[in-house]
Amino acid sequence: MASLQRAATYVEKGGVGKTTSAAHIAVAAHNMGHEVLLVDLAGTQNDLATQFGLSIVERDSDTDSSVSIDAPISAVFGDDWEFLRDNIDDLLDRMTFSTDEGPDLIPADPGLGGADNNLANVPLEERYQKLDEFVDDLVAEQYDLVIFDLPGKEDNIALNGLFAARNVVAPLKPGAFERDQLQKLDATLDEISADLNVDLGLALIIPTIISSQETLSESFVAHVSEEYPGIVGEPVTKTADIGNNQNAGRTLYAVPDDELYATGKRAREAYSANTEQLLSQLTDR
Ligand SMILES: Nc1ncnc2c1ncn2[C@@H]1O[C@H](COP(=O)(O)OP(=O)(O)OP(=O)(O)O)[C@@H](O)[C@H]1O
Ligand SMILES: [Mg+2]
Repeated sequence: MASLQRAATYVEKGGVGKTTSAAHIAVAAHNMGHEVLLVDLAGTQNDLATQFGLSIVERDSDTDSSVSIDAPISAVFGDDWEFLRDNIDDLLDRMTFSTDEGPDLIPADPGLGGADNNLANVPLEERYQKLDEFVDDLVAEQYDLVIFDLPGKEDNIALNGLFAARNVVAPLKPGAFERDQLQKLDATLDEISADLNVDLGLALIIPTIISSQETLSESFVAHVSEEYPGIVGEPVTKTADIGNNQNAGRTLYAVPDDELYATGKRAREAYSANTEQLLSQLTDR
């Protein structure tokens, strides 16, 4: 198997399409023949599970339509992790769930908030490496692409995700402050690279929720492409198909053509092009 490639969706802003992009890129990469693992580190809302129609509950509540978390991702950040890793044979299998669309998913769990707090007490030289070690130790054997969906803030979990991924996918939607947002992201990644002594890079910027009817959208795309030549992907059209199908527990890739608007088909094509661009970018780095 080819070596593991890694990326994280990260922007310090909510509602820009981080989760949507992580999910659509994961399915597109799966359809291109990759073994893909998605990891939800973006708080406890479990948006990625919802995106794939999985309803996740904690271990002891038992209902028919839901799946329960046996081994939560937050354990990776805890004191007992090394013991668990060395003593449970099928640990990664117990952490992952299959989706109907191909990629496997490690859902968010309620322990992530506590894990973020506890990391503050871990010595600096180990604090940001926990997720990276988990990926090296367990994920690299079974997958060739891992995508982390990160929180929209710079907490210890996000820093672990950035350290483990190295490559950032930044979806951005048009708006008054988006230019600043991009510069801030650049500066933040430089700062974190220096602090953590890794080389973090922007692998792909995706203009999202772009409407051809709005001049703001058009000038936004033009500006971003000018500022960041080479790493700006195909703009993703604004479409009701995305939200509607998220509510139905599927990505655009699971929807038959005749059930999509023209905008939905364009958005899906954009995500396919963006996935190809990302994969070649990751190979080059
Ligand atoms: N191309 C699109 N067209 C229309 N709506 C979209 C599109 N992409 C995403 N959305 C909608 O925008 C909202 C935000 O998207 P998403 O949840 O992916 O953002 P996020 O950055 O992960 O947000 P959060 O910071 O809350 O995790 C969702 O309701 C989603 O359905
Ligand atoms: Mg999200």
